Amino acid sequence: MKNLELNEKSLVYHLKQYRAKKFLKYYPETTSTNDIAKKMCHEGKNKELLVVTDYQTAGKGRTGRSFYSPKGAGIYFSVVHEISGNEKNFDLISSIAGLAVRDTLYNMFDIDAKIKWPNDILVNDKKICGILCEIINENGRPRYVVIGIGLNIEKIDFPDELEYTATSIGNEYQGKEELDHNEILVDIVNNIDRYVIRNNALNSYDNSDVISRLKAHSATVGQLVHVIKPDGEFDARAVDIDVNGGLVISNAEGTSTLTSGEVVHIR
Ligand code: BTN
Repeated sequence: MKNLELNEKSLVYHLKQYRAKKFLKYYPETTSTNDIAKKMCHEGKNKELLVVTDYQTAGKGRTGRSFYSPKGAGIYFSVVHEISGNEKNFDLISSIAGLAVRDTLYNMFDIDAKIKWPNDILVNDKKICGILCEIINENGRPRYVVIGIGLNIEKIDFPDELEYTATSIGNEYQGKEELDHNEILVDIVNNIDRYVIRNNALNSYDNSDVISRLKAHSATVGQLVHVIKPDGEFDARAVDIDVNGGLVISNAEGTSTLTSGEVVHIR
């Protein structure tokens, strides 16, 4: 009988299958895998670091939100990527993480997820996965990026405030494949490595493959959006994704590109 819940032995097995060299830290419970990864980076334990849990007591989302991380219902993990300083398209990292999750959902479960800019993963307009990328500086320059991913797997009753906006693989998948949390997690890690290490996506002069995938699977391009930035809020139409993964928006004021911030789709 396969153990489908997260467990260290199975994670190691799947990492070996993919020949993914990772320094794995597995916790049955922790505060936030991003916080643990950041602490370990500051302590110099940063090489190929992968911090994994199936229960976060203080899961963090973007813009100061919390991330609902109930025990055993999903996978919550952080991958550390070292920044050389020579990357031509560093900003693409957060979009690539979104594509990596989308690829796993499609390849393993035939789920056609969309990416809400910058990197929420939606299925049938409901959020199945959130991604929080945090940069760690050393001597005044970016040195590591912690890519934190929370993916809902099991069919559960979400709390009232998420009932109509959240979903999980178990809710969406009609097939017979088992939901092996370990295999799903390692497949996403492998997809990130495929884009970043094997396809050199952050260093390549030609990002056309990544950008065309981002456009093809965007939930945001074409939508009317409410833009929320630290210096103000306004409405616009999302018209494109630029070469760095930024969102090109247009309104009566003109056309501009968002490189950070949040958007709300206006229905
Ligand atoms: C968002 O939806 O706003 C981003 C959510 C990111 C959640 C993941 S779960 C693993 C990692 N650790 C955290 O505390 N957050 C990220």
